[in-house]
Amino acid sequence: MYQEDLNPYNSSEYEKFFKTTLLYKKISKNYDLVSFDNDLMQIINGLTTRTVLSLSILDAAPFYYLQYLTDLNPSKIYDIGCRANLFKKYVPNLIGIDVLAAKKDRDANADEYLKINNRFYEENFETMEAAFAINSFHFFPLKKIRERVIQFSSLISKGGRGWITFNAAIMLERQVKSKIRLNSKNIPEEEVEKLEKFVRKELYDLPFKLEVFECTINKELDSPLTGNVRILFTK
Ligand SMILES: C[S@@+](CC[C@H](N)C(=O)[O-])C[C@H]1O[C@@H](n2cnc3c(N)ncnc32)[C@H](O)[C@@H]1O
Repeated sequence: MYQEDLNPYNSSEYEKFFKTTLLYKKISKNYDLVSFDNDLMQIINGLTTRTVLSLSILDAAPFYYLQYLTDLNPSKIYDIGCRANLFKKYVPNLIGIDVLAAKKDRDANADEYLKINNRFYEENFETMEAAFAINSFHFFPLKKIRERVIQFSSLISKGGRGWITFNAAIMLERQVKSKIRLNSKNIPEEEVEKLEKFVRKELYDLPFKLEVFECTINKELDSPLTGNVRILFTK
């Protein structure tokens, strides 16, 4: 059995809705361009590299998913592997965790410098009411995807919500020990289709209530912005 998409993100519908919110008003003051696409190439499509470099751009698509978390009014929302911690300004009670310290990485801006490892999982078992990880838990072979989703869900307390995204290219690279960046142009189409089926099969019947499930590997294997496997659940 294969996990089908559930409540997938619709960029034009969401754009229409989001532009009526106070959050959009706040964000649009700070950025030249607010985009609504989960795919980086679509966002910069038609713009020259120089134009892209001259703009401040925020991708608002993650707010579609984050709304499920903020709807719970949690006292804390953890952004795990937050890197630049960009959502902190706009999401109440957000705490960004990352292993990278600002002194060593110019894009790092975590509230807490922590390495997510087995000890972290043990110490934080079912303690988080809301947490998300955008493309930060995908540095492992693709065949382990189900195990890693379940591991992430172990952080979420009963009734809490989690959102996790993966870029399949990163996981495939680790699986086949590729030295080059993999994408839909250098992998045969049938292989990419097989990968999508594999992921849908592995993620069928997960042990929690799915709210959103999307797998867009067939569209593009390498999806560095918000991943091509997106899972949002209630525990
Ligand atoms: C591809 S970046 C994604 C950053 C951010 N979530 C975003 O969407 O812009 C992955 C981040 O995860 C962090 N990360 C990866 N493995 C980690 C670990 N074991 N513990 C803590 N942070 C980790 C990295 O330091 C990096 O900042």
